[in-house]
Amino acid sequence: MKAAVCRIGVFTSGGDAPGMNAAIRAVVRASLHYGIECIGIRRGYHGLLNGDFTRLDFESVSDISRRGGTMLYSARSLEFIEEAGRNKALATCKLLGMDALVGIGGDGTFKGLLSLANNGISVIGVPGTIDNDIACSSYTIGYDSACNIALESIDRLRDTMKSHERCSVVEVMGHRAGYLAYSVGIACGATVVLVPEREVNFEQDVIEPIRRARLGGRTHFMVIVAEGVPGGAYQVADQIRNATALDTRVTVLGHVQRGGSPTSRDRMVATYMGYEAVKLLAEGKTCRVVAMKGDDIVDYDITEALSMSKGLDKLSETVARAMTGVSDDKMI
Ligand code: F6P
Repeated sequence: MKAAVCRIGVFTSGGDAPGMNAAIRAVVRASLHYGIECIGIRRGYHGLLNGDFTRLDFESVSDISRRGGTMLYSARSLEFIEEAGRNKALATCKLLGMDALVGIGGDGTFKGLLSLANNGISVIGVPGTIDNDIACSSYTIGYDSACNIALESIDRLRDTMKSHERCSVVEVMGHRAGYLAYSVGIACGATVVLVPEREVNFEQDVIEPIRRARLGGRTHFMVIVAEGVPGGAYQVADQIRNATALDTRVTVLGHVQRGGSPTSRDRMVATYMGYEAVKLLAEGKTCRVVAMKGDDIVDYDITEALSMSKGLDKLSETVARAMTGVSDDKMI
């Protein structure tokens, strides 16, 4: 089969995520498999409109799957939002003879791809973000690694909080979503998990679980707060201190969650998704987002994907509450 495209530009955009390198490698190797050339665009859309590229061959992506970050760098471009910026990006595609683009990133990346499509360029999005907040996909590249990195830090924190009988309030990333917070909270056995999708009833959602844990004999407490919760970890800690007089400490994990070697799951998912992106292009498809549905790799029309919403992770909420002893009748 002769591939429907001849030269793919691949780039990473938005916040980086562990596993992006594995996705780049997969795009390059799959391209070669289909007889397609591959060019790496550095610094996302910023690089695309400034013609910042590097040629990628089989060897240039060797030994990168196990590395965190992205070998192509990442950036957020304000210039690309303007029509003039997009025209510069299209001019780069024309100059380099790129008839296809694979963008690895989040919803912003996919919107950008859509704005470049229908100009003789086929586009495919691959979901890469530690937030797992892309509606069409049950999983995004980087999520598992970020959960594990956060978990490792929280396990360490627990040792010292236990010694000093303190309350630890840990803020995890996640943008405006609580997926990361729920996964980390459930895995570490948190006393409380707060997410932006659910308004906080402080007495019921924070103080009561702490009280119940104390009555059960516990003298240290772990409270996980998603960064999108209004006021963040510092405000929650102040409220806990005022309400309970517990010795309370705040840890904001921040960008440490985006670094480090990707887990096996992220390397695997990234490789399958990267391969799928190229396969779709080779078959003549365009304007698709590669996604996961259960254990399957699927794809959606970009416009349809962008119109979907994911909402609160209800199962995780139920499980998190059950694990901290909140009975069903207190469920909202
Ligand atoms: O989207 C990934 C993410 O790490 C979010 O969790 C966080 O809100 C944001 O990016 C941080 O962005 P920046 O790297 O620009 O500080």
